[in-house]
Amino acid sequence: MSRIAYVNGQYVPHKDAAVHVEDRGYQFADGVYEVCEVWRNTIVDMPRHIDRLDRSLRELSIGWPMARAALEFVLREVVRRNRVHDGIVYIQVTRGVSRRDHFFPGEDVVPSIVVTARATSPRAGDSAAEKGISVITYPENRWPRVDIKTVALLPNVLAKQAAKEQGSKEAWYFDSKNNVTEGGSTNAWIVTKDGTLVTRPAESGILRGITRAVVLDLVEREGISFEERPFSVEEAKEAREAFVTAASTLVMPVVKIDDTILGNGHPGSVATRLRELFHTATDFLAV
Ligand code: PDD
Repeated sequence: MSRIAYVNGQYVPHKDAAVHVEDRGYQFADGVYEVCEVWRNTIVDMPRHIDRLDRSLRELSIGWPMARAALEFVLREVVRRNRVHDGIVYIQVTRGVSRRDHFFPGEDVVPSIVVTARATSPRAGDSAAEKGISVITYPENRWPRVDIKTVALLPNVLAKQAAKEQGSKEAWYFDSKNNVTEGGSTNAWIVTKDGTLVTRPAESGILRGITRAVVLDLVEREGISFEERPFSVEEAKEAREAFVTAASTLVMPVVKIDDTILGNGHPGSVATRLRELFHTATDFLAV
């Protein structure tokens, strides 16, 4: 079965899907994106992702490419046409196509939209979670507006590539105060020695993750001891356990930070429980 992508109003074979060379996403990284999980033929937490897309667009004064209900239809349609049972659906909106010029183009230029979907293996995710991943620490290299989910991901690419070259899956950024901000494509969490779950407030330095929000709901529901506050690299290395969250990885235990093995080197009980419970706290939209 060949993959299908949605590009500016048309469903096209994925291998032929293309945007114009003067699309501002291509020229300036002038665009935003979202990634939603697809789980058992449903799109997980779509309203929350679309709300965040709306916020990203508004922060950058990019218009909506289509009505919200139409976008919801397209997301479902792309997942359906690609027969994705479990995987991800990706949405990208840019400021549109215009002769290269830093200034915003005129009102006549319409935003571009691309939607793709692909299958991933839930078993591969679960077996990674059974072992846990390692992360490296990496100095913050991004602009301050990391709350906007822009496609300008070169700093994240460099951080994650450095992690890969050191045999790790993720890079944990630390700021000028040596506090962990977040991962290159995930939010960061620790469980302290006394069993308190800690994550950084979303007010500054991180993307307000949708997976993070679901985990916060779960933490409240399950009565898990929790503090929302910054934590340092040193505190993280002394933690009992750690994990990362994102729509693509869900709750993924971390067992090593740089050369420091956490706890007994195995995924912790809090991370494992939150991963197991994750889909009991999410919202679903059948495709
Ligand atoms: N990344 N922080 C950053 C920098 C991210 O890029 C992401 C998501 C998150 C987690 O957000 P959410 O829980 O809403 O997925 C945090 C996506 C999955 C990506 O770039 O592929």
